[in-house]
Amino acid sequence: MIREFHHIDLRDRNSFGVRQRAARLVEFETSDDLREFFAPGLPERWTVLSGGNNILFTEDYDGVLLTPVARRIIPLEDNAKTVRVRVEAGVEWDDLVAWAVDRDLWGLENLSLIPGKAGAAPVQNIGAYGCEAKDAIRRVECFCVESGTMLSLDAAHCGFGYRESIFKHSLKGRVIITAIEIELSHTPCPRLGYGDVEREVEARGGATLRNIREAICSIRRAKLPDPAVLGNAGSFFKNPVVEASVADALTVQYPDMPHYPAPDGHVKLAAGWLIDRCGLKGHREGAVGVHERQALVLVNYGGATGHDVIAFARKVQAAVREKFGIDIDTEVNIL
Ligand code: EPU
Repeated sequence: MIREFHHIDLRDRNSFGVRQRAARLVEFETSDDLREFFAPGLPERWTVLSGGNNILFTEDYDGVLLTPVARRIIPLEDNAKTVRVRVEAGVEWDDLVAWAVDRDLWGLENLSLIPGKAGAAPVQNIGAYGCEAKDAIRRVECFCVESGTMLSLDAAHCGFGYRESIFKHSLKGRVIITAIEIELSHTPCPRLGYGDVEREVEARGGATLRNIREAICSIRRAKLPDPAVLGNAGSFFKNPVVEASVADALTVQYPDMPHYPAPDGHVKLAAGWLIDRCGLKGHREGAVGVHERQALVLVNYGGATGHDVIAFARKVQAAVREKFGIDIDTEVNIL
C-alpha cells in the first residue's frame, strides 16, 4: 500500500535533523506499489529516502522521495550449517541484528547498532569492527524503474568494496532496493580482531553472540553520538585509501599514525585520526561541530542548516589537505 505526503517537513526523517521540506514523499511496501507509482511515467526528479541516516539535505527537495516501509524478516532455507533469510528493505538494520542474535545466528553481531534500514545496507556496504554487510549479503532484490521489472543481483555482481557498491554508480537512479537476502551461520564465528573488541568481549565473559553484541553496542555508545539526541550521520568522511608510498612517507613523519592494508597494495588511513591531529576534535562553529569523541563525525548542535554543515566540512577537508596533503571525501550523500 502507498502512503503519500505533500510539502512534508523532513526534520524527523534525516538523522542530521536539518529542517528541509520535500514536495512529495511516497511510502511504499511492495514492488506492485512501485509499479503503480511509476506507471504514469518517471517523475522529473525522484530518489530513495530510507532511514535518512546517511544524507544531508542542503535545500528543499522539489521531487519525490520514495521510502520503503515493508518490514518482514523471512527465513528461507536452513541447512543445519547456515540459514538464508530474506529481509525487506524497511527493516531497521539493528532490529535485524537483534533478530539474528536472539536466534543464535552468527554473522551480523559486529554490525550491531548501525543506524539505518536493511535496504540501504548494500548501497554503501555498511561496515564496522572488522565486518561489512557484504560478508552476509548473498543477493539484492531491486525494482528496475526503466523496465518496471524486478532484478535479482547476486552479491558477486554488486561491486562491493569499502563503502562502495554498484548502487552508488551504474545502478544509481535506476533501481530501488526492495529486499536483501543474507546468509547467517549456526556455527560460532567470532571476529574480535578490531580495536578494543576482544578486550570488551573478554570482560563480559567470552565470545558468545550476546557478549559480542553487547561489547560492540557499548563501544559504539561510548564513541558515537546518538542521532536521537545530537543530529549526525555517523562518519561524515570516508577513510582515505592511498598509495603505499604516500602512507610510507607519512608514517616516517607520524610514526603513530594508524594505517591498515587495503586491496591492491593500497593503504587505508584513519580520517578521524587525521582530523583529530589537526586539532579539530570537539571544534565547534555555531551550530555545527566535530564530535568530541570521534572526529570523523560532524554534529548538528541544533538549528544548523545543510549549508552550515557543508561549509564546516569544507574547512575540515582543507585543514587535513594542508597538514597532511590528503584529500578526504564525504561519505554522506549530499542532496
Ligand atoms: N582516531 C583518532 N581520533 C578520532 C577518531 C579516530 O585518533 O577522533 C583513531 C583511532 O584511535 C583509531 C583509528 O583512528 O586508531 C580508527 O578509529 P575507529 O576505530 O574509531 O574507526 P574509524 O576508522 O574512525 C570506521 C567507520 C565507522 C565504524 C568504525 C569501527 C568509516 C568511514 N567509518 O571509523 O563507521 O564504526 O570504523 O569499525 O569507515 C560510519 O560509517 O558511519 C561509522 C560510524
